Amino acid sequence: MTRKRSLSGIKPTGTPHLGNYFGMIEPAVALQETHEAYYFVADLHALTTGRDPARLRASTHEVAATMLAAGLDPARATLFRQSDVPEVMELAWHLGCVTGLGLLLRAHAYKAAEQEGRANEISFGTFAYPVLMAADILLYDADVVPVGRDQVQHIEMAQDMAGHLNAHYGPVLRRPEPLVRPEVQTIVGTDGRKMSKSYGNTIDVYMPPKALRKAVMGIKTDSTPVEEPKEPEGCNVFQLYQLVATPAEVAEMAAQYRAGGYGYGHAKQALYEALERRVGPQREAYTKLMGDPAGLEDILRDGASRARVVARGVLERVRAGIGLPTLPR
Ligand code: TRP
Repeated sequence: MTRKRSLSGIKPTGTPHLGNYFGMIEPAVALQETHEAYYFVADLHALTTGRDPARLRASTHEVAATMLAAGLDPARATLFRQSDVPEVMELAWHLGCVTGLGLLLRAHAYKAAEQEGRANEISFGTFAYPVLMAADILLYDADVVPVGRDQVQHIEMAQDMAGHLNAHYGPVLRRPEPLVRPEVQTIVGTDGRKMSKSYGNTIDVYMPPKALRKAVMGIKTDSTPVEEPKEPEGCNVFQLYQLVATPAEVAEMAAQYRAGGYGYGHAKQALYEALERRVGPQREAYTKLMGDPAGLEDILRDGASRARVVARGVLERVRAGIGLPTLPR
């Protein structure tokens, strides 16, 4: 039986945090059990927002090391760096040529810029972001794309672009489907908003235990006194606890909140311990990977050479359909 192919990308825009981890990394890693997994560090996309070469290199390694520490097996899964497969930029061009401006004007990121009166300030790269992302997905014949809720529009745009190209040139591209884990659609940050680097409310996955505890203790709660009963739903600590604790532990914490005499400090300590149980054992692997940049490069380059074989096959199909010669060797 041939397995379906799962593909996703993570932008290297900073050290991976729990939002990245529970929203995308962990579910993506789990899919290697049932799917042929293709995951890449989306460094070309990161260039739409960051212009710091050293930061780009460091963050690319942090993202790759996090995927690996979280259990991605480079022997079974293909882990690579987006820019190591330059064919993606050619496919982006072909998609761009069959994509109407109207579609791109409806992209959330563009619309937000427009509403804030900044439409003229965004770069062409930001405007074309959905086209490159569609190319990422379609270049590898992906069946499913595990992503966060916020990325679903991009997958739908990729479906549209594949449809347009196929309508013109015959069935050359496979239609991908988004895969959103319903129970973890949004991960809250320390201030209760969506965990995001731009809000400064993140908790890094593999920070040292002391720093992790400090970050957890800094999560915002209301000021209900310890003695009083509390409502677990809507509490930031409780929400994060639901991601890492067993259903029995979650039920127990909920009961303690409602009973009173249980303070947010207790809940935070429980959250810290549960987090430590979950990601603590992976921290050493992460540190080791980060301490061996040449080893990480070997893994990424090896992944890229495998990904490239698939990419060239799909690009040949597209080129043949369009009326271009075969790729030069
Ligand atoms: N845009 C995605 C994000 O910001 C990252 C990404 C780039 C991606 N290319 C992709 C995700 C292809 C899935 C498939 O999270």
